[in-house]
Amino acid sequence: MGKKRLEGKILNPNVDGSVELIDNGFVEFDETTGKILDVGRKMQKNVEGSFISSENILIPGFVDLHSHIPQLPGAAKNADELLPWLKNHIFPLEIKFSDLSYAEKTARFFFNEAIKFGTTTVVAYSSIHKEATDVVFEVAKEIGIRAFIGKVMMDRDMKRYPEELPLMSRNIKDSLDLAKKWHNSNNGLLQYIFTPRFAASCTMRLLEKTASVAKEGEFFIQTHLAENQSEIHFIKSLFERERHRVPTNTHIFKKSNLLGEKTLLAHCLYLSTTELQLIKESGSKIVHCPTSNIFLQSGFMPFRRYQYHEIQIGLGTDVAGGYSLSMFNTLRDTIETSKIVNLINDNKPYPCLRPEEVFWTATLGNATILNLGSKIGSLHPGKDADIVVIKPEPSFSFYNSSNSIVNILENLIYLPHTYKISSVYIAGKKKF
Ligand code: GUN
Ligand code: FE
Repeated sequence: MGKKRLEGKILNPNVDGSVELIDNGFVEFDETTGKILDVGRKMQKNVEGSFISSENILIPGFVDLHSHIPQLPGAAKNADELLPWLKNHIFPLEIKFSDLSYAEKTARFFFNEAIKFGTTTVVAYSSIHKEATDVVFEVAKEIGIRAFIGKVMMDRDMKRYPEELPLMSRNIKDSLDLAKKWHNSNNGLLQYIFTPRFAASCTMRLLEKTASVAKEGEFFIQTHLAENQSEIHFIKSLFERERHRVPTNTHIFKKSNLLGEKTLLAHCLYLSTTELQLIKESGSKIVHCPTSNIFLQSGFMPFRRYQYHEIQIGLGTDVAGGYSLSMFNTLRDTIETSKIVNLINDNKPYPCLRPEEVFWTATLGNATILNLGSKIGSLHPGKDADIVVIKPEPSFSFYNSSNSIVNILENLIYLPHTYKISSVYIAGKKKF
């Protein structure tokens, strides 16, 4: 093991939100330490000159901020709205994780597939089972993926889950045991993330206790918020019946102290200005999952509106609400959703999202949300070498009339048949 050098066009996110194109670029890294040593422009131009199709494209590995490992085998199936989909399709799949060899096989498939799509960091829900989550961590360690993983916490009988749910105290203890064993393990590649599923499956006591232990240990927390209109009404009625006077689902998280700088709120489609202010004040992050929002008929998240409220927004696949582990697919649906939001808001048009913006968000933006902005998310000396090598198919070279950043990204986002992801490195080790 020694120094390794990759060459190609580099698409490199910068801290100011821009993306730089380094034509005829190179990245050198140390395979032992996994750190990038040097990034730059080759002195000599290739003989092909600016002919794009013969040259690799190098990008930093994607960060997928939201996904569910046990759900991958259910991708693209049984589309229904959220609550019936969970009851009839997803919960029966997730309880299969009580079979540890099935859990191991599924986790292996999930991580390997994610890597093949160029994702080097995943933030993922496991199942409700402590033992299966332990196995999932074991597999993540063996594969060497960068991951935040959490045991799903649920202590409220929604009359939908097919198994008996563990008590609040068991949810907390199992999560803490797993956190103790796995947090910051495998040279810091693996992190524990507290995972109260959503307010419908958690009692106020579980939400409160989770907030308290997670914040005490400075852990990240992930949950779902305001994904679907029926879900919102269902949650509100559950908490009202227990005499928790809360005007909105965001107030449930506010009241339980679950909001905070290390809290990732998936979906967030239907939020009032008051709720946006609570989220902004707390420093919580929103994770946009547009593929899932369309597949489950949840709706269209107004990305620009949340940006104007100065809330940090990241991107995730939400497999299997989203059917694809490809972050390029997520980027396409992020842009297309922003066009729909623009179309349906005649009185308040929001400018559509641009390819560079969504690419930046899925790399350095998502990394920054995880407090990993100085470690991953772009290709700069001193950072970990999480690198994706992309080979354009020469026969499709006529799609590239220009060599601008935008045109290269448009190809990658909209025309997946015109290239192949040829190799993927995580902390300097070749994983695909
Ligand atoms: N809300 C609660 N659980 C889930 C889940 O598994 N997927 C999605 N999309 N939303 C949820
Ligand atoms: Fe989800």
